[in-house]
Amino acid sequence: MAKYRIAWLPGDGIGVDVLEAARIVLDKVGLDAGYIAGDIGWEFWRREGDALPRRTIELLEGVDAALFGAITSKPAKTAAAELAPALQDRGLTYRSPIVRMRQMFDLYICLRPCKAYPGNALNFKEGIDLVVFRENTEDLYSGVEFAPVPRELADMLGKLAKPFTPFAKLPLDQYAVSCKINTRTGSERIVRAAFDFARKRKRKKVTVVHKANVVRATDGLFLEAAKAVAKDFPEIGMDDANVDAMTMWLLKNPFNYDVLVAPNLYGDIISDLCAQMVGGLGFGCSGNIGAKLAVFEPTHGSAPKYAGQHKVNPIATILATKMMLDWLGEGSKAAALENAVAQVIKEGKVRTYDMRGTSTTLQMAEAIAEEL
Ligand code: IPM
Ligand code: MG
Repeated sequence: MAKYRIAWLPGDGIGVDVLEAARIVLDKVGLDAGYIAGDIGWEFWRREGDALPRRTIELLEGVDAALFGAITSKPAKTAAAELAPALQDRGLTYRSPIVRMRQMFDLYICLRPCKAYPGNALNFKEGIDLVVFRENTEDLYSGVEFAPVPRELADMLGKLAKPFTPFAKLPLDQYAVSCKINTRTGSERIVRAAFDFARKRKRKKVTVVHKANVVRATDGLFLEAAKAVAKDFPEIGMDDANVDAMTMWLLKNPFNYDVLVAPNLYGDIISDLCAQMVGGLGFGCSGNIGAKLAVFEPTHGSAPKYAGQHKVNPIATILATKMMLDWLGEGSKAAALENAVAQVIKEGKVRTYDMRGTSTTLQMAEAIAEEL
């Protein structure tokens, strides 16, 4: 029997292409693993009314890790309209399967390293090496949302919150409410994960990203929790910044930052910014990590217009594969894979279209495998 069981979840669009590429390097690196394909994605939403079917959840319950490609997501109304006729009018609502996996398996850490590999012509600046810790289960991703707003909720808000007065006059279908929910435990554990990482990797500073000057309750709690956790790590610097200012400063002085930690939505936003500074979404890799399970993925979407063309850059997924190897405790294989990626980037001969080249997805994977 293989040492590891890995759930293999290509999903939609280019998710299929990039996982094919990942498999080339995994086979070359010689991971002793069985890869079990799981159904996930738009096709299963349309046919079964569930983009993350029960059988896939059961698969995830019994694996060491998962590699995930990408998923097509559409707004609720469009999604409902695309359901098979027999499933229409059942009141099914589409929710992103990756968000559901994060919550269902308590994958509370979204780890997004953004490193400028030397010689990548797409680097914003050489030497950038940022690591984003994004809280992955709470915040505006809570899924607690109302459109139209139920009468009871409107009445309650009218009673409890003075700033609600102007909204209280509106008809219930003329506004919507999304709840940003942040817990003390959830905030503390993501900040602790960021500081633990900083300590282990000898990083100098953790920057807490928030908007506590305006979003006082939830972000106030996040910042307060962060300050408390920081006390356990006296050798590591800590500072904090409002998310809007953060986006400017990151561009202006990327070398002032090291490890960033943020609630879910701000983490989503700044991790795209950081990815762009190291070459764009073709280089953005991501680990959704919990105590028992971790799901690794590129941060890009399913890019339907490129589906099946083997055109897109698989490096994001290959770096996510590297993260998976680290998480499995296969540090030397992970390091070898990262070196191979760095080498191919530095040589600059094999380049996909985003790198202004003409190499295909699989040619890139093969070039990386060649270096292993
Ligand atoms: C990400 C993506 C997802 C998110 C989408 C696809 C639901 O943007 O992983 O950053 O918002 O978390
Ligand atoms: Mg995102």
